[in-house]
Amino acid sequence: MSLFRTKPLAKLLAQAEQGGGLKRTLKAPGLIALGIGAIIGAGIFVRTAAAAGQNAGSGVVFSFIVAAIGCAFAGLCYAEFAAMIPIAGSAYTYAYVTMGELIAWVIGWALILEYALGAATVSIAWTEYFNQLFPNMVPWQWRHSPLQYDTHGAHGIVNAPALVILLLLTLLLIKGTSESANVNAIIVAVKVTIVVLFIGLGWKFISPANHTPLLIPDNLDAMHAGFFKHGWGGVIGGAGVVFFAFIGFDAVSTAAQETVNPGRDMPIGIMGSLAVCTVLYIAFSWVLTGVAKWADFVDPNKGMEASVAYAIKTGMPGNDWLATAVTVAILFGFSSVMLVMLLGQSRIFYSMANDGLLPRVFSEVHPTFHTPYKCNWVLFVFVGLLGGFLPGDITGNLTSIGTLFAFVLVSIGVWIMRRENPAAHRPFRTPLVPMVPILGAVVCSGMIIGLDRTTQVAALAWMAIGLCVYFLYARSHSRLNYRAEMGVGR
Ligand code: ALA
Repeated sequence: MSLFRTKPLAKLLAQAEQGGGLKRTLKAPGLIALGIGAIIGAGIFVRTAAAAGQNAGSGVVFSFIVAAIGCAFAGLCYAEFAAMIPIAGSAYTYAYVTMGELIAWVIGWALILEYALGAATVSIAWTEYFNQLFPNMVPWQWRHSPLQYDTHGAHGIVNAPALVILLLLTLLLIKGTSESANVNAIIVAVKVTIVVLFIGLGWKFISPANHTPLLIPDNLDAMHAGFFKHGWGGVIGGAGVVFFAFIGFDAVSTAAQETVNPGRDMPIGIMGSLAVCTVLYIAFSWVLTGVAKWADFVDPNKGMEASVAYAIKTGMPGNDWLATAVTVAILFGFSSVMLVMLLGQSRIFYSMANDGLLPRVFSEVHPTFHTPYKCNWVLFVFVGLLGGFLPGDITGNLTSIGTLFAFVLVSIGVWIMRRENPAAHRPFRTPLVPMVPILGAVVCSGMIIGLDRTTQVAALAWMAIGLCVYFLYARSHSRLNYRAEMGVGR
């Protein structure tokens, strides 16, 4: 049986046609709001400061431009697929049709890094801002991972607040609280207002001294010794880190079945939400590194945690109210991002279980709530272990690398699909194929290379485990086996 057997496009489209009873109500503005709701989160409010402190200095603003360029190319490729195969399952599903089962499995496995680890990363960031609002309500060692040490050398035990918020969100998901468009619109409005307020009020507190020199100088210290830790190399290294801030625009593609005119609105939704966030991020990172020195963001006694609140308190005198408002908004905003990620992950598990690649337990539905509750519980344990026991740097960078890898494959997938299936109906066509897919793959690969060695090794180990699971379990359980026996499909 071929490793590259594909799922027939016609069958998928028939599934999409049935639509799972979903109503087509979303239009371009709703999709843009959906995207922004999933995008703005821990990336801008936590990872920006980490990238500035560890890699790029004030040049983090250029890191955002590099990450945005990679996302724009990959986003154009996502848009072609999302309009053409408008069903849930995202990149995993696209790959199953274009590049075959093995690559689909690899993408599905990489997407676990994106969604499950992404949710864990945001839960860790949530703890930082929770502590900002209720200082020391939870003792230090009960809100840090065992891999983190305080200034006296004592290590953490578990990140308990992260576990609690994950548990609450899991219960919500099991009850089937689908985020209504209105709730999402309110959270989006709050998040965007906070970002705009920070930019508007902070602009006049920018101190040019903080922006000088713009990039981290050569030979500064051991922490910034590597090629991707200072200068322009640091800008590329920082791009991989802040790439986290853009993750979520692909969530727009999962709403394709609920979109009135996916051919027109999908690309507008994906590219529109990316464009709005790029502009906000560039301005935001310029102000953040202008009101506080980037070096403070790697100092545990200064702005290493809850960096935005720190920058406001130290660099924008008289605006403490804004620090509190930002903190409250962030806590709500992070919760919505986590919900989207946990939901996205359970949908992908659900698709993979339906295809037979994962055990049935992932697609069993609750008798009353009609939600995949067993899947939600498994996810809680998995994400809880990650969020409770790992530091945010590790989970954040692993999320970026997993997503970047999926983007590389989606970009290549568009090109393959054009060659293999040129006549298929494409309501939206990625412009300048193969240049755009190639540039998408190249820029995203560049960011993968710029990430730190530990992240790269951990990602390789994760993919190796994934391949073992595929060959020991998924391949023999795939539903394509039955289809082949019955003489259907390839
Ligand atoms: N982009 C999302 C965030 O920054 C994942 O939280």
